[in-house]
Amino acid sequence: MQITHTPNVIGAHITQVDLANLSDADFASIEKTFNERSVICIRDQKLTERQLIDFAKRFGNIEPHFLKHYTHPDHAEILYISNIKKDGKDIGHADAGSVWHTDMSYTERPPRATLLYALEVPMENGVALGDTLFSSAAAAHDSLPPETQKRIANLRAIHQVAGRRAKTGTGQQDQALRRNQPAVVHPVARTHPFTGRKCLYVSKGECEGIEGMAQEEALKLVDQLADITVEERFRYTHRWQVRDLLMWDNCALQHLASFDYQWPQHRRLMHRVTVGGSVPV
Ligand code: SIN
Repeated sequence: MQITHTPNVIGAHITQVDLANLSDADFASIEKTFNERSVICIRDQKLTERQLIDFAKRFGNIEPHFLKHYTHPDHAEILYISNIKKDGKDIGHADAGSVWHTDMSYTERPPRATLLYALEVPMENGVALGDTLFSSAAAAHDSLPPETQKRIANLRAIHQVAGRRAKTGTGQQDQALRRNQPAVVHPVARTHPFTGRKCLYVSKGECEGIEGMAQEEALKLVDQLADITVEERFRYTHRWQVRDLLMWDNCALQHLASFDYQWPQHRRLMHRVTVGGSVPV
């Protein structure tokens, strides 16, 4: 197995390994790399649905997704991420990740990791479209002046599904999600459960305020910290290849999908599996 770190502050590429036949020693190296580098791409994998789920399970329990109409008919653990339409209807979640975010921060126990397995990658003139961008929330926290780190150390942000966007009362899906999912509070600077590093844990989409702070001041601070989190210097951009298995750490970074492809000229199909996490502290 070959593990190569990207030149960026996050990211590693792993080759010459078959995840369907993985020794405990190689799994330990992959998990260590994952914790240290926050996003890893394991290339050239030929995985059945069951093999993908079994690999994900080695990191923790699997969380079935609440968008039941987009899950695999025989494997509820797998969510389709896709722009493909059948009979005029999306076969999967077509706009996942359209703003910088960390997965499901609006839940009590946000997921430790998300895995995305590429089955179809949109191409144009030999170039892959639909890159996914990642940014290190740990490096962003490290970059803050000590007085800012001290100021935010004990603050807790309010996270709500669809967050500030839902407040406008537009999207029906957002409103339904919001009814079933009460707001939660999490530390603004979260401690990584495996590395102990402090990570900024706020996003413009989900965070509606900060406990005990006036709304205007709170949103200004959330926006400032969210902007720092996604600064270019903390990023890695993933250019997809078919059969990439990419996985990312939902405490240590935020991510953003790019939508530079279009149905029906381009087809994108990914299988996504989510691994459960712990209550942020
Ligand atoms: C996601 O945010 O879950 C999807 C990212 C992508 O499709 O690139």
